[in-house]
Amino acid sequence: MSEQILDTRNRPLRDLRISVTDKCNFRCQYCMPAEIFGPDFEFLPQHKLLSFEEITRLTRIFTSVGVGKIRITGGEPLMRKELPKLIEMIRQVDGVQDIAMTTNGSLLARHAKALKEAGLDRVTVSLDSLDDERFGRMNGRGYHVSDVLKGIEAAAEAGLSIKLNMVVQRGVNDEDILPMARFFREQKHTLRFIEFMDVGNSNGWKLDQVVPSSEIVQRIHEEMPLTPIDPNYFGEVASRYRYVGTDQEIGLISSVTQAFCSTCTRARLSAEGKLYSCLFASVGDDLRAPLREGKSDEEIREQIRTIWGKRDDRYSEVRLNDTPGLNKPDKVEMSHIGG
Ligand code: GTP
Ligand code: 5AD
Ligand code: SF4
Ligand code: SF4
Repeated sequence: MSEQILDTRNRPLRDLRISVTDKCNFRCQYCMPAEIFGPDFEFLPQHKLLSFEEITRLTRIFTSVGVGKIRITGGEPLMRKELPKLIEMIRQVDGVQDIAMTTNGSLLARHAKALKEAGLDRVTVSLDSLDDERFGRMNGRGYHVSDVLKGIEAAAEAGLSIKLNMVVQRGVNDEDILPMARFFREQKHTLRFIEFMDVGNSNGWKLDQVVPSSEIVQRIHEEMPLTPIDPNYFGEVASRYRYVGTDQEIGLISSVTQAFCSTCTRARLSAEGKLYSCLFASVGDDLRAPLREGKSDEEIREQIRTIWGKRDDRYSEVRLNDTPGLNKPDKVEMSHIGG
């Protein structure tokens, strides 16, 4: 039994989200707008990225203080070479109960089988529209819906559990809510609708572009009746609803209108080894230097205990209570810590 560490609000550390690259082949306007992440944008050089050995060592240390769930993120994690090798290494760490990956799905058809064989349990695929033209515009690179659907199919064939994430923006893709709901209900995959968030500093977030989850539920319920169901586990990010008369469900991730900070058990590790205690943090604590300076596991564990012990983050709650329009200026970019 590993030790459990609590932050100042009594929240245990349970999930570690590991970004393996800051690069992505998409340029979603709400995450990596092409005007900012252009041809001259400097991504992290290879030597600054944590190696697979370093990531695995940190995973081992994190599991000893209570982490059981690992999520691999990016950028787009499949842009990192030999990712299945990393999954295989993480799979062997005692205490790791669940390994998931968040991906845009475009490279998944090629890698799904190897990922599953390496020990990946689940994928969450981002898809914002089934309309090819709109999807091409939203991903900023003209990728087709079929590229992603092929990835989902390959993941299903390989035996991976699958969820879908759709970021909803009013006036951009809110007319896709119903088509997406119908399609994935039919396909029997859980679709989660995410309220457009003010992550990073470059996505031009405005409150009037947020479609509240309550409105999304209402729109779907009018056509396909829904009933709320209990969370799967303590601190689950999505609130769940089931289509009446089926065992098919959807999720709503309501960071803007119904903050869920009080049960937030997540830490995020960037590709260069900085630890962030909140998605909206401005700075992270460097764990790469101690790794490379030859610090012992116990010294690094103590550093993690200290960081988590003083954690007080609750950005979404503050945003909700203080000024709904607030948009703090110096936040880490989403592509750096993977969402
Ligand atoms: P499950 O283990 O499948 O329940 O995963 P999850 O809901 O943690 O997964 P996922 O990474 O797919 O989260 C979906 C999205 O919710 C992320 O991409 C973020 O946009 C948002 N999200 C996840 N965690 C947080 C969080 O701690 N704070 C905020 N504000 N948003 C979050
Ligand atoms: N608001 C909400 N969700 C976002 N994501 C990326 N940027 C935002 C944002 N501004 C989501 C992606 C993907 C995951 C990595 O985070 O769609 O599902
Ligand atoms: Fe890439 Fe995902 Fe960001 Fe889109 S949301 S640019 S797919 S990392
Ligand atoms: Fe956790 Fe920060 Fe998200 Fe709140 S805003 S749920 S503290 S990551």
